[in-house]
Amino acid sequence: MTEALRSYPRSIECTGSQIEISRMTSADRSALDRLIDSLPDHDLLFVPRDISHPKVIDAWVRALDNGEVTSLIARNGETVVGCTAIVIDHLSWSRHVGELRVLVTPSSRGTGLGRALIQECFAQALELGIKKLVTQMTIDQHAAIAVFEDLSFKAEALFRHHVADRMGELHDLVVLSHDVDAVAKRHELYGLSDALG
Ligand SMILES: CC(C)(COP(=O)(O)OP(=O)(O)OC[C@H]1O[C@@H](n2cnc3c(N)ncnc32)[C@H](O)[C@@H]1OP(=O)(O)O)[C@@H](O)C(=O)NCCC(=O)NCCS
Repeated sequence: MTEALRSYPRSIECTGSQIEISRMTSADRSALDRLIDSLPDHDLLFVPRDISHPKVIDAWVRALDNGEVTSLIARNGETVVGCTAIVIDHLSWSRHVGELRVLVTPSSRGTGLGRALIQECFAQALELGIKKLVTQMTIDQHAAIAVFEDLSFKAEALFRHHVADRMGELHDLVVLSHDVDAVAKRHELYGLSDALG
């Protein structure tokens, strides 16, 4: 697997708060637990597996160590306020595709953190050699869909009744995608790559 080169930690400003973004490692395990505990149940439905289950987090942390997942963690002081994951299946015929997951704690939403984290993931996707990013969420996540569409993701598939929540209620799932290569080429053409680095 290609080692991402982007340097971390990085500090960004989100509506007056200084947020530090670093690479997630297995040492962030308990911070990740706290972040997931802060989420409403419905927000967990955007990932295929239930991340409130310790076994799923164990697998995530193991995947960080063996390079199957590249994750960032965002902190406001000591408090974890967001994280990302780019998941690649290196043994599949879609190893050029990265599945992107972004999570911001409810109290930090609407501050620009989600957008900043997604943009960090674009830079990481390029370094990882990913050609296409996909992301999925239930169709009632209007804010999330608005953020991704604004960042040039396009709806690519809709799966009816694909997600069952804890009460057994069924939800439709939308998959949005982003052509990383095409956007990078456009940036190169306009001389934006260096400016965005
Ligand atoms: C999706 C998510 C990461 C966005 O995080 P965020 O920090 O609130 O995003 P931002 O503050 O950067 O907002 C980005 C844009 O979306 C817009 N936006 C935010 N909430 C919105 C809403 N309810 N309706 C429409 N647009 C909205 C903002 O105005 C902003 O646009 P601007 O930069 O032009 O002002 C966050 O809502 C989340 O964690 N959701 C639960 C998990 C999830 O569904 N993840 C997505 C699947 S991977």
